[in-house]
Amino acid sequence: MGKQLKDKINEATGFIKKRCELSPRIGIILGTGLGKLATRIKQQVVIPYTDIPYFAISTAPGHRGNLLLGEIGGKKIVAMQGRFHLYEGYSLEEITFPVRVMRALGVEILIESNAAGGLNRNFKPGDIMIITDHINFTGTNPLIGPNDDTLGPRFPDMSEPYDNELIELTEKIALKEGIRCHRGVYIGVVGPSFETRAEYRFFNLIGADAVGMSTVPEVIVAKHSGLRVLGISCITDMCIPDRLEPVDSEKVIKIATQAEPRITRLVEKVIENIR
Ligand code: HPA
Repeated sequence: MGKQLKDKINEATGFIKKRCELSPRIGIILGTGLGKLATRIKQQVVIPYTDIPYFAISTAPGHRGNLLLGEIGGKKIVAMQGRFHLYEGYSLEEITFPVRVMRALGVEILIESNAAGGLNRNFKPGDIMIITDHINFTGTNPLIGPNDDTLGPRFPDMSEPYDNELIELTEKIALKEGIRCHRGVYIGVVGPSFETRAEYRFFNLIGADAVGMSTVPEVIVAKHSGLRVLGISCITDMCIPDRLEPVDSEKVIKIATQAEPRITRLVEKVIENIR
């Protein structure tokens, strides 16, 4: 039998601690739209994923493959520069492994960013949505299999996957900074094909405001590990069934890049103001 998850976490964590002494309290997953935050990390230590035991390698467009440790707004942080997606063919354990490692490094708060398609008619491309809740539409769950009770409970509570205090703090800062922000429900799918009109219509009908191909597995593991989560989506394209325009990953990245300075400023201020 292969190594237990706990042993793999300990090995990866031990390796990172040898490279960098810093004990981060905040973990950040720099998805599409938040890559620039990497340039704001002071006293940065860069560890390529390829060096870290059991880490996978990012293949998605716009996703680099480094773990970054350092400081933002006077807080010690660890950031993933590039994440792993189900559509790349990775297992859910591989996708969520870095969240486990962040927890083992001492992280208490996880900040997630992603690009998402807008289902809510009040949104427009380039808008920011603070995730208040999610629908797991991946058809699977990263916690399937034997549960290690030392990592978290068998049946984790999901009544508040996204931390209300962090949502309120983010909204308050957005208002002060003059950054347009929505609240909404994120539906997580596998991809890599974008959705059909019928699927968008269905997702909107069941209560989703935005759709994307990441985040949900990471958040489930973060909650299992007892982390507080803040999720921010960059709305890159509108998914209104009756007037759907073709979308491709270049368009998604172009809009996310335009929104990046605003999202970066918002998240930086949030980190500064986290108690
Ligand atoms: N669907 C799924 N994922 C996405 C989309 C979309 O329309 N836009 C950006 N990520």
